[in-house]
Amino acid sequence: MSEVIRIFDTTLRDGEQAPGVSLTPEQKLEIAIQLDRLGVDVIEVGFPVASEGERKAFELIRDAGLKAEICALARADQRDVDAAIEVEPDSIHVFYSTSDIHLKNVLGVSRNEALERISRYVSYVKDHGFICEFSPMDATRTDLEFLKQACWAAEEAGADRINIPDTVGVMTPRRMYDLIKEIRNVVRIPISVHCHNDFGLAVANTLAGIEAGAVQAHVTVNGIGERAGNAALEEVVMALSLLYGKKTNIDARQIYATSQLVRRLTGIQLQPHKPIVGDNAFAHESGIHVKGVIVDPCAFEPFNPELVGRVRKIVAGKHAGKHGIKTMLEESGLKPTESQLEEIVRRVKELGDKGKAVTDTDVLAIARSVIEAPMEEMKAVKLEELVVVTGTGVIPTSSVKLNVLGKEYVSAETGVGPVDASLKAIQRVLQNLAKISLREFRIEAVTGGSDAIAEVIIKVEDETGNIVSARGAREDIVMASVEAMMNAINKLLAKKMR
Ligand code: KIV
Ligand code: ZN
Repeated sequence: MSEVIRIFDTTLRDGEQAPGVSLTPEQKLEIAIQLDRLGVDVIEVGFPVASEGERKAFELIRDAGLKAEICALARADQRDVDAAIEVEPDSIHVFYSTSDIHLKNVLGVSRNEALERISRYVSYVKDHGFICEFSPMDATRTDLEFLKQACWAAEEAGADRINIPDTVGVMTPRRMYDLIKEIRNVVRIPISVHCHNDFGLAVANTLAGIEAGAVQAHVTVNGIGERAGNAALEEVVMALSLLYGKKTNIDARQIYATSQLVRRLTGIQLQPHKPIVGDNAFAHESGIHVKGVIVDPCAFEPFNPELVGRVRKIVAGKHAGKHGIKTMLEESGLKPTESQLEEIVRRVKELGDKGKAVTDTDVLAIARSVIEAPMEEMKAVKLEELVVVTGTGVIPTSSVKLNVLGKEYVSAETGVGPVDASLKAIQRVLQNLAKISLREFRIEAVTGGSDAIAEVIIKVEDETGNIVSARGAREDIVMASVEAMMNAINKLLAKKMR
């Protein structure tokens, strides 16, 4: 087996064949530059016969002076090959179907005619001075003896590499291994594999092909491609390096940036649990796991996320433990006391139990409001009850029951909305204790969605000019506002009583 496995990237060709994806020549250039930075050996830019845009992409990419080999795709057909020659790539990837399903049902061509075309166009490409890679399309459903003849014909005609495509993704790793071994017995030129992911086996089949002696893998960034996609570059490269001890020319630290660029320009989103590049690939939520990775990352990670240009993420949620939340808060510069931390964890878990996906921003909002709140024993005023009525045809009304220094007081107010009514009702109860006026009121829906945690920031002033600000963070906007108001009032009263 060769030491360095070549990475043939077909994101711009097979990847672009993914339903709904269409890249402009400028976008192809942007991706090609990043692929070159990543270190792929070959960039298959497109199918020149297909459109003017494809040809323009070749022009832009060729002029960019990249290190990678620039490859053009062509069927074994005069127009296709001439179009490929015209864009002046480094190599031409000639393909022709070899399975009976394709030859009889799709092309209406005999096996002999297929062999004749393969020889003719591989020679033609070589006579024009290009590197030639030949693919017998639908190789894995082709009669083995005929597949060998086709590969042999291509080699005889001067092909530099043979690529074995599993066009409809029907291989298993064991069958791929055996097939590549068979092909190795008949051709001397380097063998490549090109696997589709119809059964989720593209990466496994690619690796099996390499174990059997293939020295090049066709891959796409994020695994995008026809139907269920192709073997994912990031998975093949990392598995080769860390599980198989094989070298590639890839600079793995560029993997995440490349994935993000392809995600943005193609518009194809990734499943969160996608290996290597998915949002959750290095995220930990469960208390046990979080504690483990904080003490020793190897405990619950196969490798350091920095290797692929990523960082570890500690996610809060109902499975989160004190340890993880504390670390996350400390990383954001917040240092809660032990009892504040307990309250933050309690509120995070309560939200998780209600089915909310608690984000880091939610936790920070909750933490800020808990940390900045006056201590329980220092609170002169406590909220005992709050009832709000709102809707169409009714005036928003709020009634509150407050406990002020051990005595209960009740009041009700109307307002332009439930928040206004509630804040006014609180102010009314306290009018004899302190004349409080609202100086500033800000609501920040810190996460998207209707179940977002609303963070309310409030500034109040008393009759003597004391000003304090406070915050509240709840999934209910009225409760967040009331919490902020109660915190502000207690801070003001504490100042007055000093
Ligand atoms: O999947 C396939 O067979 C292809 C060929 C063009 C190689 O993409
Ligand atoms: Zn393909």
